[in-house]
Amino acid sequence: MKGDPLFFLAPMDDVTDTVFRRIVADCAAPDYTMTEFVNVDGLCSPGRDRLIRKLDNTQDEVPVVAQIWGKKPENFKTIAREIADGTIPGFSAIDINFGCPAKSEVKAGCCSALQQLELRPEAAAMIEATLEGAGNMPVSFKTRLGFDKIDYSWHEFLLGYKPWVLTVHVRTTKEMSKVPAHWEAIQPILELRDKISPQTKIIMNGDIANRKHGEEIIEKYGVDGVMIGRGIFHDPYAFAEVGPQKESPWVSVDRDARIEHFRRHVELHIKQWPNNMKPFNPLKKFAKVYISDFPGAAELRAKVMEIETADEALDLINNL
Ligand SMILES: Cc1cc2nc3c(=O)[nH]c(=O)nc-3n(C[C@H](O)[C@H](O)[C@H](O)COP(=O)(O)O)c2cc1C
Repeated sequence: MKGDPLFFLAPMDDVTDTVFRRIVADCAAPDYTMTEFVNVDGLCSPGRDRLIRKLDNTQDEVPVVAQIWGKKPENFKTIAREIADGTIPGFSAIDINFGCPAKSEVKAGCCSALQQLELRPEAAAMIEATLEGAGNMPVSFKTRLGFDKIDYSWHEFLLGYKPWVLTVHVRTTKEMSKVPAHWEAIQPILELRDKISPQTKIIMNGDIANRKHGEEIIEKYGVDGVMIGRGIFHDPYAFAEVGPQKESPWVSVDRDARIEHFRRHVELHIKQWPNNMKPFNPLKKFAKVYISDFPGAAELRAKVMEIETADEALDLINNL
């Protein structure tokens, strides 16, 4: 596995599929990327064929970690084993999602709900099943600071499993993403790590814009790396290494080259998900990334927002 400091692209549902991970890898590669979160219970059901495509990946990406969530420990074990033995191929590690605050997941007692003390036995069963299935493959956890308040007993519990990586989105579930990230709250977790599992890498997540900002966070807070999510929407080159005086390469990408980035994304999307297998709608988020900061961008973006399929988007670009 790679050494410090580590730069991760955050898992983002409907965003960080194999297509976007390839685009980010081409612009400026992080050390690791993560899949969107994938439900192990669904993967062990008749819905598997559709769902498993979330775990598609190619050799053109940087190392990728499969992120899983669910309810039934036996399904965590089955899927972890399939990822580790290559039945589901291409992964460097497995991550368990203990951070998603979405109502449906929390109501089901999954993801970030598991931070609550009363659900700790369930979290333990999921982790133990995953570790058993994963064998020698590294396992990591992605979580928050706590459920309705900061609760370091949760991180102490997780570190007891000596994970490869512990990523902390430094907000509670209750805070969603509505308050600024509490970077300073990482300190006690670093101290727990030193005591319980010195080999675990602690990764800071929340409101980190780009590599340069990440380097400042690493320096100031003493973490082993950072994970960047929404920063990539402002700059596809967020992971580019830039000197102290220099700006991201994205700043000098002109209109035609920006449109070319969008075209490549749409083309890869059509190739990966033919016959509208995956809706075009989530791609509109990327239109804001690529079609920005040039004369006429707002008008062109408005046209993209009205489009319903990737093929129509390609026609629009080709007719510009
Ligand atoms: C659209 C979107 C989808 C997300 N999906 C996931 C997910 O599937 N798994 C996960 O662990 N976190 C998910 N997150 C949370 C991010 O990984 C990250 O923790 C959060 O955005 C904070 O980091 P940032 O400020 O760098 O964006 C998602 C966030 C967004 C904005």
